[in-house]
Amino acid sequence: MPAMSANASAKLILLGEHAVVYGEPALAMPFSALRVRVVVEPWIGAPAGRIHVFARDLDLDQDWRDLPENNLVREAIVLVLSVLEIQQTPTCKISIFSEIPVSAGLGASAAITVAIMRAFSAFLGHPLQQDQLNQLAFQVETRMHGTPSGIDNTVIVYEKPIYFRKGFEIEFLKPGQEFTFLVADSGVKKSTASTVAQLANDRLQNPSYYDPLIEQIGECARVGRSALESGNAVVLGEAMNTNQDLLATMQLSCPELDQLVQAARQSGALGAKLTGGGKGGHMLALVREEDLDAVRSALLGTGTRQVYQTTLLAEGNA
Ligand code: PMV
Repeated sequence: MPAMSANASAKLILLGEHAVVYGEPALAMPFSALRVRVVVEPWIGAPAGRIHVFARDLDLDQDWRDLPENNLVREAIVLVLSVLEIQQTPTCKISIFSEIPVSAGLGASAAITVAIMRAFSAFLGHPLQQDQLNQLAFQVETRMHGTPSGIDNTVIVYEKPIYFRKGFEIEFLKPGQEFTFLVADSGVKKSTASTVAQLANDRLQNPSYYDPLIEQIGECARVGRSALESGNAVVLGEAMNTNQDLLATMQLSCPELDQLVQAARQSGALGAKLTGGGKGGHMLALVREEDLDAVRSALLGTGTRQVYQTTLLAEGNA
């Protein structure tokens, strides 16, 4: 078996996180600058059936059977072996090199899962097709996060901007113009499972308060979609701002994110909001070309460790 490698990108949720778990639509796009790469290679001379997993960023350097039951690397390996009906575990090394920060709203767990499944299935001689890969990655996400919407695995598998609604066909977005975003790190790590559980609990206590907020976030995604497709950056920015204010009302922001959002808005961003699970992780701002330097400096002025720039290309200009 020759060595195989595969990769997957991070992702950004443009509008609609959390509400998407409750059936509302959301918009997401790949964040191709940050990637995870996985290499699977034969392990000559090792005892039969041994799989060694190495991932510096995840602090892993061990046999896969020693990984805890709910570890995503283990889950990904088990699912691929099972779906391909491989009876005899191959002897190999799986190395994972990830640039995507974990617990930071950028879809690290889905990206790692997708890259492992791509490389491992190819190594076994049966590369998974996109649709099957998406279904399997969703199963791993479910094991990791409890009740994921499926948006992370979907945008990462297809690596295209999507309009996503749980239980509906995936719709690929066609941006009417180029949009540029800045992404800044709040420096706060927060697991998505915990913020999803927080909202589930709050909503259970007080559905008449939370349900209308969830619906309004869905409306932001609908408005944002038509603004994105018609190339209206101002309206898209407004939808992002409204979405952020709703998430903050639902206690899904945090002071560090609020500070980044405020710095971006005050220095000229058309819209700014948290992206992903919230209560930490990253902030996403839509910025006109001419305001990029000012917004970047304002963000750096808050003490953020990292500001990335990414562009959503107009349809046809990939
Ligand atoms: O924090 P991330 O990158 O896993 O994004 C989570 C997005 C949520 O809407 C909060 C959860 C979900 O499953 O859609």
